Amino acid sequence: MDIDVASVDKALSTTRVVRRRLDLERPVDHQILLDCIDIAEQAPSGGNQGSRRWIIVKDQALKDRLAELYMDAAGQWMIQTSDRIAGTGHPQEKVMKSAAYLAEHLAEVPAIVIPTIIGVHDGSGRPGLFDSIIQSVWSFSVALRARGLGSAWTTANLSRQDEIAELLGIPDGMTQIAMVPVGWTKGTEFKKASRYPARQITYFDGFARTWQSGPSSPERHADGPGAVVEVDIKAKPQDIWPYISDIEFSAQFSEEATGARWVDESQQPGIGSHFVGSNSNSYMGDWEVDCFVSHFQQDHEFGWVTTDREHPGAQWRFEATGIAGATRLRYSVVIGPGPSGLTRAIQEMPEKEPRILSRRISQLMSNMTEVVHGIKTSVENDVATRSRDSD
Ligand SMILES: Cc1cc2nc3c(=O)[nH]c(=O)nc-3n(C[C@H](O)[C@H](O)[C@H](O)COP(=O)(O)O)c2cc1C
Repeated sequence: MDIDVASVDKALSTTRVVRRRLDLERPVDHQILLDCIDIAEQAPSGGNQGSRRWIIVKDQALKDRLAELYMDAAGQWMIQTSDRIAGTGHPQEKVMKSAAYLAEHLAEVPAIVIPTIIGVHDGSGRPGLFDSIIQSVWSFSVALRARGLGSAWTTANLSRQDEIAELLGIPDGMTQIAMVPVGWTKGTEFKKASRYPARQITYFDGFARTWQSGPSSPERHADGPGAVVEVDIKAKPQDIWPYISDIEFSAQFSEEATGARWVDESQQPGIGSHFVGSNSNSYMGDWEVDCFVSHFQQDHEFGWVTTDREHPGAQWRFEATGIAGATRLRYSVVIGPGPSGLTRAIQEMPEKEPRILSRRISQLMSNMTEVVHGIKTSVENDVATRSRDSD
């Protein structure tokens, strides 16, 4: 095969949303845009119907009007928000600064491309219309990137879709999917973005089941089975932090480890801090397990490993990440690689290893779900009480 995988991967992984690095001075030829649209049209299309229609806007009066509509729809808000969070270290600070820049300079961008598709999302269940365009627009962006141009995927304009349709004469029955300002880029090096590694967000044969390697067939403890539960909480990460870093608090929602205490209470908790998780139930009797804090990033991340720092029986982690209007709480576990109660059960019944693992993961997932929902309820109650008190 004569595809240069490294180049393709590089283009795919460095196609960024470009705003501040668009060259506003250098014109963009129609032909290069048409070439990229030809590439983009190779994307799959439901029913193999060619229903995409592209509009290239270069006329200054039209760009001025599009920029006005964009400013009205969200640009003002982007500029105000960017000013408000500038210098605060807010996670959206950089992206807001860049978004505000685009809003201020949209009319100067050499070309604005508006991809549209014949059809509307009308619940008719007919595939292949609306859903056939996003993959194509992304191909367009990657094809531009490979040629030294940059693009910005914007949707804030969509709330003014009717006015844009009128401005450009787009008939009823068409859907605009985005608005893509395009220009040559200032410099051509772009970095990869920070994303979750595939292993953390890819599940095997069922939702939320992870594996650190493999999985082999049949599955083995040595493959590092794990699970993830996530919940969106209407609060800020710093509202959630006291709960996820409080070992006694989060333990109370789980059937598994209803008790937890720090071993050296005089110490500030941090990486390496030692606590003991405990429980008493009919199935395991009384038990205690040593736990060591492995991740500790204020307001964001709290993790611990059980039994042995170097060779843990299990690895647990809470992560709180700000998203629009909420915080996503992610609670994950990886079993092993060290020994635990589970490995004893597997030693006794080695032929049942996959089943033992699968059952254990199901059990953990239901406990973890209780924990994140318990935290969500407490945090959201807290926030509501605080806002009532401040009224
Ligand atoms: C569906 C979607 C809609 C977006 N809408 C806008 C927008 O209206 N304005 C804007 O400046 N950026 C918009 N973006 C860009 C994002 O805010 C963000 O900058 C981008 O995903 C991160 O860029 P990167 O992946 O290159 O780091 C949008 C992105 C997506 C995927």
